[in-house]
Amino acid sequence: MTIILDKSANVFTLQSKHSTYQMKVGKLGNLLHTYYGARLSAQDLSYLLFDGENHFAPYPSEFSNRRGSLDILSQEFPTAGTGDLRSLGLLLENADGSRVLDLRFVEVKLLPGKYALESLPAFFAASDDEKVESLEITLRDELSQVEIQLLYAVFEDKDVITRALRVKNLGEQAVRIKKAQSLVLDFHSGDFDLIHFQGRWAMERQFERQALTHSTTSFGSNYGVSGNRQNPGFLLADKATTEDFGDCYGFNLLYSGNWTATAEKSSLGQNRVTLGLGDADFSWQLLPGESFEAPEALLSFSNQGFTGLSHNFHDMVRENLCLSKYSRTARPVLLNNWEATYFDFDGEKLLEIAASAKEIGADLLVLDDGWFGNRFDDNRALGDWHVNEEKLGMSMGELARRVNEAGLKFGIWFEPEMVSEDSDLYRLHPDWTLNFPDRKPLLGRNQLNLDLSKKLVRVYLFEVISKLLDSAEISYLKWDMNRPISDWYSSGLDREHQGELQHRYVLGLYELLSSLTTRYPDVLFEGCASSGARFDLGMLVYQPQIWTSDNTDAVNRLKIQYGTSFFYPLSTMGAHVSAVPNHQTGRETPLETRANVAMAGSYGYELDPTKLTEAEKAQTLVLTERYKDYQELIFSGDYYRLSSPFDSELTAWQIVAKDLSESLLTLVATNAEGNPPFNYLKLKGLDATALYEVEDHKYFGSVLMNAGLRLAQSRADYSSQQIYIRKVDKDG
Ligand code: GLA
Repeated sequence: MTIILDKSANVFTLQSKHSTYQMKVGKLGNLLHTYYGARLSAQDLSYLLFDGENHFAPYPSEFSNRRGSLDILSQEFPTAGTGDLRSLGLLLENADGSRVLDLRFVEVKLLPGKYALESLPAFFAASDDEKVESLEITLRDELSQVEIQLLYAVFEDKDVITRALRVKNLGEQAVRIKKAQSLVLDFHSGDFDLIHFQGRWAMERQFERQALTHSTTSFGSNYGVSGNRQNPGFLLADKATTEDFGDCYGFNLLYSGNWTATAEKSSLGQNRVTLGLGDADFSWQLLPGESFEAPEALLSFSNQGFTGLSHNFHDMVRENLCLSKYSRTARPVLLNNWEATYFDFDGEKLLEIAASAKEIGADLLVLDDGWFGNRFDDNRALGDWHVNEEKLGMSMGELARRVNEAGLKFGIWFEPEMVSEDSDLYRLHPDWTLNFPDRKPLLGRNQLNLDLSKKLVRVYLFEVISKLLDSAEISYLKWDMNRPISDWYSSGLDREHQGELQHRYVLGLYELLSSLTTRYPDVLFEGCASSGARFDLGMLVYQPQIWTSDNTDAVNRLKIQYGTSFFYPLSTMGAHVSAVPNHQTGRETPLETRANVAMAGSYGYELDPTKLTEAEKAQTLVLTERYKDYQELIFSGDYYRLSSPFDSELTAWQIVAKDLSESLLTLVATNAEGNPPFNYLKLKGLDATALYEVEDHKYFGSVLMNAGLRLAQSRADYSSQQIYIRKVDKDG
């Protein structure tokens, strides 16, 4: 049984294959948290809760013995005004202005399968056979009659729990939610490191590990989207935890807008993690009878180090999240014209590129920015989504048809959420933008954000995108979003509701994406936000792949893809081979290395193939074909980070088929040294007793994993190697 309810003791235990999570209703009806960690027999663990005297901590008046302070006890979902002085799950303002919500247990219900959310996308069970059970716990504040439901789903075999929050106003007066976190997790003690993924444009998701000291570390996004400065996926790990050993917890949020996370170590050594909606400028009015849902959070525990956690998250993203058929099928190898031409193209040039793209094995030509309106540079015309036939020298229908005749599918770039100041759309509808009244708007790349909280704007975008997709044979759409949102004001909302705008924007975005992806199930949608500024679980519901970074330099990409791989499987990472010198770093790396790095993702090209020599074309074709041979393994296999680009001069990773029959190993040298030391590489994840063939040699899995491969001593800088490993019969 996945969820065990002991109703007499009010102990609720969630069991996954390797983890146990437990809550208990306390003496006064508060929901307390007793345990999350390695799987245990389901027994009441409330003996772990502190029951001594609370020195100078606020405690409920029902306790006459100075005990029971909620500031000391581990709680399941702490709220304001109850004595808990740590980071809160929910902050709510009552009609009288007080900010107190004293939640007591009402009921608990087991729900079959995966609970559903009404207003937001959520994970789902991959099949009727998948072992998933849900729990709904209702807590209520008697005075205000505000009720919350804590929702949990246990994906038993994947060792993952999802959580969500529903707030209902059953009272007679309006209340205002000021902060809503989807996840709070308390630890009675522990000495943890916080691992998070910070970054910037063109250097996204950089691994950072820091000790959690007696303080509150708060991070998140105020970018309007999930952001490139921090990713909502983060970990808590024991100090000694490595890739393969030790306890660690991973958290992520299925959300694409502003978010907040905190990691806190309190004075008595307790730790708390929270994750949920951005709380910097949030408020939500809840009228009597209304309810509000906070986005879904994802959590997983592993005592097998980071690799174990990543495998859990990868499996969830691959099987339980994305609605697109492409999340389960092979993907085309793209050739994107952005770095090939920037804005300098016409139809004939694109057709020449298409013909050469075919020669290097690409399946689909993506026409990036610059095909519409007066868009000759990035200062104007966003919003004027009519094809510039004069520039192209042909209609989009003809271009797509001729690309198809050249043997490729055709795709297009779009930046729906934006408008340029210099555009007909802005001149016609300035009120469609997010913009403070009577003030000059802030600009980013000379553009403004459209107000997706407005139905009218969403209807317009749906129509304009549909019109384009209907006008030509378009198989792919790159959905870009190139500036942060700063001017948070909507002319469509009254004063009482302005604080809802950030969340309403995301709801509007999801509604638009949902209707478009439903109407065009055969179109592959790829996400992008000034490279990888919106790489999150929310976008992955609609888009099976996201452009990981504008930085395609093979060496920098090692770090970007390494960080991204902690939560997101390789199939989600758009990764292209670009020209050298690299446009972002100026670095020159061998073609084979650029390809080997891009193969750890959803592969493509970002270069002008007409500029390749015949020899380069032939080599590129071989690389494309190699990727196609391995794509299924790369997309469905288990991923192992063998060494880190942050502390090794030889970055290595390995993908192992689920049935252990084959594996792909990649090594990239990033800092050659004279007379280098010996190097042995221990592989992972193989069948210990089986024999594997590695470049004409045969080794037992146990040999490869324990003695390792002996690597060549010297390597040229930026050289790389990809080694295919196959299980063979004992006699060959
Ligand atoms: C962003 C994207 C690029 C490209 C340009 C086009 O920077 O990240 O890939 O599409 O926009 O303007």
